Amino acid sequence: MLDKTKFGWWKSAVFYQIYPKSFLDANGDGIGDIRGIIQKLGYLEKLGVDGIWLSPVCASPQVDNGYDISDYQAIWPTFGTMEDMDLLIREAKERGISIIMDLVLNHTSDQHRWFQEALKDRENPYHDYYVWRDGTPDAPPNDMQAVFGGSMWTYVPHLRQYYFHQFAVQQPDLNWENPVLRRELYDMIRFWVDKGVEGFRLDVIDQIAKDPDRKITGNGPRLHEFLEELSREAFIEEGLVTVGEAWGADVERARKYSAQDGRELSMVFQFEHICLDQKPGGEKWDWIPLPLVRLKRCVERWQQGLHGQGWNSLFMNNHDLPRIVSRWGDDGKYRVESAKMLATMLYGLEGTPYIYQGEELGMTNIRLPIEAYDDLEIKNLYAERLAKGYGEEEVMASIYARGRDNARTPMQWSAAEHAGFSQAEPWLPVNPNYREINAQAALADPGSVFFYYQSLIALRKCYPVFQDGSFTLLEPESERLFTYTRSAETEELLVVCNFTGESVPYLRPEPFANAELLLSNYEPAAGVLRPYEAQMLYRRKR
Ligand code: GLC
Ligand code: CA
Repeated sequence: MLDKTKFGWWKSAVFYQIYPKSFLDANGDGIGDIRGIIQKLGYLEKLGVDGIWLSPVCASPQVDNGYDISDYQAIWPTFGTMEDMDLLIREAKERGISIIMDLVLNHTSDQHRWFQEALKDRENPYHDYYVWRDGTPDAPPNDMQAVFGGSMWTYVPHLRQYYFHQFAVQQPDLNWENPVLRRELYDMIRFWVDKGVEGFRLDVIDQIAKDPDRKITGNGPRLHEFLEELSREAFIEEGLVTVGEAWGADVERARKYSAQDGRELSMVFQFEHICLDQKPGGEKWDWIPLPLVRLKRCVERWQQGLHGQGWNSLFMNNHDLPRIVSRWGDDGKYRVESAKMLATMLYGLEGTPYIYQGEELGMTNIRLPIEAYDDLEIKNLYAERLAKGYGEEEVMASIYARGRDNARTPMQWSAAEHAGFSQAEPWLPVNPNYREINAQAALADPGSVFFYYQSLIALRKCYPVFQDGSFTLLEPESERLFTYTRSAETEELLVVCNFTGESVPYLRPEPFANAELLLSNYEPAAGVLRPYEAQMLYRRKR
């Protein structure tokens, strides 16, 4: 077991993200809950993960599925009680699994007590916890557009002021310029640390230092100052792991965020690789096929750029992204092969991997009629694009490919009704392929995606080269293969991935001719890689 009191323990850890609403419903109301998570700790232990990143479980009106918090120190009753939460933290810890909470520090719900107070009058002490500008109803301070559509400004007539919100109208932005607010947030974080939480994922953290007068949302002028203070005041335990969601991070910024002196955060989620299959200048809905050569160059830049100077997070999925096997693999004929291939590509890299629930089963995207979707982003996009004159079919194609509900359908536990997720009709439809793709079937099949992830996790803990080997990209111009080495003082790893559904001729580089095969999704054959074939090879250097 890892010694989690030490700085840096998370470098050899693997984390698993749980989206509680869709994980397991223990009390039969169609919505996942904390008791459901407790029931599946054995499953996670078997997979071999060291921690759970828990998407928000705090009190919330659920406009954005918990990313709109109305009380940071209470549990949403539908998920359970504070006693359930304490039990989860304790029982997970007994199995060597840490709980990493999701901290939403950029905004609260409009139902939060602070915002309700702030609405009362301009002199209220909580008024300045949020971002306000004077104005008249017909003239918002500027034309900034919110992430979920519409203006970033909402008018409050009795105050004759607008409040600022980067996301939904019901998610007013917090004013980080106010030191009293910042202190209040640090105290709240200490509350969770005292409960035994061992780390935090920080929601849209690079958007806290906004400056709306200059139309700045991400990477604001005081961002790193705020992060240093946050770290100094709230993350004082040596062993806390912190990962910031930073859509605006490039390699240079990430070096700062994840500097080895622990001044800011342990690591960040950056999205450069994930945005490569998006039309330049377009939105995520305007997608293009994955440009593999650019993906390889991007991975190379991050691997080499942070080596020895910072730390990477490794992920392809989360609750905001479509399922990777549908996105970059083949969710039909080669679903199992391509899910394993993508994992091999990622798990040979330097950094800390994050598995999103169901990824270890090779779960796929879903297609629903528009009324069946739940996500406010999808609903807003649909209305907005139709109004702009896009065709219905085109809009639905974007939603099928990129909608966030692709990731949020219930976990597929078994072939039983509702996929064994619930006794009742789930809050979001189950993917109809659950009879074939489910945990029970995976656990009964040694060749399943689940056991492949289990092997990858175990291998990472076995050989130091996974942690500190330096990265070299091979065959950078190949449009079909992604191959690289990781090289440490005494050992070396070769990772070979065929990103296509065709066989591709292939000869290993000479030093690996007699290398040991650590893992593959096929029985290797000489001179060729079969569709989506992946190999991980290992050799000792003289
Ligand atoms: C992050 C979350 C996303 C949420 C948004 C606003 O991007 O991952 O789910 O909608 O922040 O909180
Ligand atoms: Ca429930």
